Amino acid sequence: MRVGFTYNMKRDTSPEGDEHPPSTVGSDVYAEWDEPETIEAVRAALAKKHIVIPIEADEHAFDKLQSTRPEIVFNIAEGAYGVSREAQIPAILELLRIPYTGSDPLTLGICLDKGRAKEVLAFNGVPTPGFKVLSYVNGNANGLRYPMIVKPLFEGSSKGIYNDSVVRCTKELKSKVQWVLDTYGQPALVERFLEGREFTVALIGNGDRIQVLPIVEIKFDALPEGASPIYSFEAKWIWDREDNPLNIFQCPADVDDTNRAKIEAICVKAYRVLRCRDWCRIDVRLDGQGNPYIIELNPLPGILPRPECNSCFPKAARAAGMDYDTLMNTVLEVACERYGIGL
Ligand SMILES: Nc1ncnc2c1ncn2[C@@H]1O[C@H](COP(=O)(O)OP(=O)(O)O)[C@@H](O)[C@H]1O
Ligand SMILES: [Mg+2]
Repeated sequence: MRVGFTYNMKRDTSPEGDEHPPSTVGSDVYAEWDEPETIEAVRAALAKKHIVIPIEADEHAFDKLQSTRPEIVFNIAEGAYGVSREAQIPAILELLRIPYTGSDPLTLGICLDKGRAKEVLAFNGVPTPGFKVLSYVNGNANGLRYPMIVKPLFEGSSKGIYNDSVVRCTKELKSKVQWVLDTYGQPALVERFLEGREFTVALIGNGDRIQVLPIVEIKFDALPEGASPIYSFEAKWIWDREDNPLNIFQCPADVDDTNRAKIEAICVKAYRVLRCRDWCRIDVRLDGQGNPYIIELNPLPGILPRPECNSCFPKAARAAGMDYDTLMNTVLEVACERYGIGL
């Protein structure tokens, strides 16, 4: 098959580099775009079975997609600017009537806005921590009790989530909300802080054939002493280095059958109510009593290729006996199946 491949490649953000902020300001501006190595790994995986047409998801993408008209597009583009950025390429593909992997613009937009995603979850009875979206500094967060966590409303890749994002009093809350408003130019999501174990769950498939891969646990005891027990920007991008990897993930997680079934059930329900397609990685955390809640959904999951890089979706796939190339081709296959395209 002729398979298009849409992506955004990380830029050089050094002062001499090609400075062109895609979404917000701050040192973590390009955190969500993919490294050349990841893009090459996906291309090579697909090229084992198909003719691949790589297309950078920039302002020329529409013309390139229109002129090349791939039979299907493997989409990992994060897009640029605003809460609907991940929806840009899928929206173009819908207009051109070209099939593509992954969720549609509506689901990508909703999941990037963590507050909207939580509204959909809560309405459908899927547990998610109590929250309030603040567009201005306000010390009264819907009667939530401390500690709380304060995050930018529509970022990913741990952007805007630092060690001091967990707040314990009105003063800390106000100052963190102000920081989010000023730094990211978007509302702050204030959420009840769940102090229990954290997991992330990779799912593949559609309809009544959704496969839950082995659960990954995030082990906070691997963090430096005194660090907040969260998977922060520091934990993801600073403390976890290739030359000194942070041993933070355990897969398969050590959970008993009952708890695993509970976690899997809320993830499958979340996947369905948000109408995810083909694949998604879902973050889950337990409260003090051990009850699982959905933190957020990642319908464009991170997929760093090398095992040392600690990327959760490929790690879960490996634990299920699926190597990187097989994972990419499986996602393509489930998308083809969904469209009724024979491979
Ligand atoms: N309500 C919460 N309670 C406890 N920890 C949380 C909560 N929300 C986020 N966190 C912590 O912050 C991390 C990043 O938050 P998340 O919403 O997943 O943002 P991102 O989109 O950057 O991954 C989570 O992996 C978790 O460790
Ligand atoms: Mg997350």
